[in-house]
Amino acid sequence: MFQTARIAAAGKPELYAALAQQAEHLLAGERDRVANAANFAALVWQHLPAINWCGFYFFDGRELVVGPFQGKPACIRIALGRGVCGTAAATRTTQVVADVDAFPGHIACDGDSRSEIVVPLLHADGRLFGVWDVDSPERARFDADDQAGMQRLCAVFMASLG
Ligand code: SME
Repeated sequence: MFQTARIAAAGKPELYAALAQQAEHLLAGERDRVANAANFAALVWQHLPAINWCGFYFFDGRELVVGPFQGKPACIRIALGRGVCGTAAATRTTQVVADVDAFPGHIACDGDSRSEIVVPLLHADGRLFGVWDVDSPERARFDADDQAGMQRLCAVFMASLG
């Protein structure tokens, strides 16, 4: 069993730094994407406050398909360009959405979600791997510190796949 340490962080940058360190330990020595994605989602779910969903959508060559996650059951397939996840995948840019109701085409999987952040995941050669999606029941839950922190965490995840 992997023991994740309790994290007592002063602020968001410290919290994400500690999470990145734990993620590196958790994923070290394993390259299976489902195994690492499942443990990664569980780690973030355990330590990030005020979130109601976190998880992966994998690109299957045509569209996004839900992968390991924590939270309520989610929509399974998302076309590129659709919703926040599809926009992050199509534009290859992180989407920070302060108010999901104001985002055109937002896909409401969990009615509790009020804000979200989606980070595109790219292989080293630029191919699309998928997206990492975190939702919150609070409006404007995610700021620039979350964006930097999530991108750092996602880099740890992608590096673990080799
Ligand atoms: N909100 C996302 C859909 C996925 S769920 O939130 C899990 C979107 O609009 O892309």
